[in-house]
Amino acid sequence: MQKTDENVILIGFMGSGKSSVGKKLAGLLAVPCLDTDALIEEQEKMTIREIFAQRGQEYFRDAETRAVRGLTDRAGRYVLSAGGGLPLRAENREILKKLGTVIYLKASVQTLAERLARDTTRPLLQGEEPLEEKITRILSEREALYEEACSHVVLSDRKSVREVAQEIRRLIETL
Ligand code: S3P
Repeated sequence: MQKTDENVILIGFMGSGKSSVGKKLAGLLAVPCLDTDALIEEQEKMTIREIFAQRGQEYFRDAETRAVRGLTDRAGRYVLSAGGGLPLRAENREILKKLGTVIYLKASVQTLAERLARDTTRPLLQGEEPLEEKITRILSEREALYEEACSHVVLSDRKSVREVAQEIRRLIETL
């Protein structure tokens, strides 16, 4: 398969724009857009919040691994937006690399905090700790793994969803 025909996998922190950029990019490429969180919610018939509250984080992480394993025999090209914590497991990182070209959508703590300020859907961001501190702490635990999991980094600070999607399309056309 030509590199340019590969699936495009978007990884990155919560709020980095994976879902919105994924949808826009899928539109530009005229392929379906998949989202691991949506696949899991459909499979479990619960929201991510409910899964964390009722089953716990480990259960959710296992569901993520099942979701990406389930994609290994899927036919047809797609764009996949992966949940922010999915690349933490080595097995998941290996599977993502096999699934397609992995792009790390990177944004500054400030940008992430602005985008996530009013979010109530992400269990890991709830609680008393100030949002910027929480993002800084979790991101510092993850950054190296995001870098390891990807083949390319795309910066999303101060760019529109469309600009980022077009940048990724141009990037994959050069591969
Ligand atoms: C998580 C990111 C979320 C979702 C869950 C956990 C994480 O997905 O999977 O709340 O650990 O970073 P998004 O990155 O799409 O927000």
